[in-house]
Amino acid sequence: TWTAQSFIESTVEEIRERVGDARVLCGLSGGVDSTVVATLVHKAIGDQLQCIFVDNGLLRKNEFQDVLDLYEEELHLPVKGVDASDRFLDGLEGVFDPEKKRKIIGNIFIDVFDDIVEGDNDFKFLAQGTLYPDVIESISFKGPSATIKSHHNVGGLPEEMNLALVEPVRELFKDEVRNVGRQLGIPDHFIKRHPFPGPGLGIRIISDVTKEKLDLLREVDDIFISELRQQDLYDEVWQALAVLLPVQSVGVMGDERTYEFTAALRAVTSVDGMTADWAHLPHPFLAHVSNRIINEVPGINRVVYDVSSKPPSTIEWE
Ligand code: XMP
Repeated sequence: TWTAQSFIESTVEEIRERVGDARVLCGLSGGVDSTVVATLVHKAIGDQLQCIFVDNGLLRKNEFQDVLDLYEEELHLPVKGVDASDRFLDGLEGVFDPEKKRKIIGNIFIDVFDDIVEGDNDFKFLAQGTLYPDVIESISFKGPSATIKSHHNVGGLPEEMNLALVEPVRELFKDEVRNVGRQLGIPDHFIKRHPFPGPGLGIRIISDVTKEKLDLLREVDDIFISELRQQDLYDEVWQALAVLLPVQSVGVMGDERTYEFTAALRAVTSVDGMTADWAHLPHPFLAHVSNRIINEVPGINRVVYDVSSKPPSTIEWE
């Protein structure tokens, strides 16, 4: 029978055998999956591992520093923070199409890693937190045209990069990864973090991505997520997110007419993200969050709550 402990033991052994004395690069995203992968690899080969946490400018409020601190101080992983936000924002300028955004973001990630590898020939492997649902979604949704949504964390690296992939949780579901993480001693508050997509807030702005829109969305998101935590609702939902809609509508603030943007809030319950129901959050909670957002975030005068399930909707809006 499968247990987290036996999985860890056999995986650590496999990684050791496969990697030998080569160095392994691991991109950390701040999420559970890549953190579990990095911890597994670190357990296997120690400081032959080099973790990279890239600030792509699409992260949540304070996320870069908070997560770096956690990696360094609590998990003691060998991690380097790289601020590449300008590169990502430049690349995304004027891009509206969701799949194009994903491709651009994925390519810039590869470029950033490429630069690191170029400076150090000892790197032979790239460790990634690909999960089983990522693998299935990218295979099974292949229709006559293309995948429904590309998952940038499944798929190829450029040939010339010459790095072999290490994907130790490729056969696991999210709840199994969480169990492995607990068994590895990763703090519970971290294990229970909601999933966050690689393209980050870039696919939660339903139009072209700018620094101004990102900053606006970061404030909205921060209010929603911190209220969920404060009201003990965070662990009740599988994922929660805010989306900035390209819709302006009329409002009234004091004696003034406003014409500002709309934020959509989404929270879902799910087991593995493959199917999901919209979370029936208490109305007083939604009212409170809506009030706070409209009062505290200039530029937003309307908040809507998404009541769609997956399928036929997806969790993200893009
Ligand atoms: P959807 O929107 O497809 O999302 O129902 C299912 C889960 O996958 C996450 N997601 C992504 N994760 N890169 C990622 O790493 C992506 O491009 C991506 N798109 C969606 C989403 O946040 C949800 O947890």
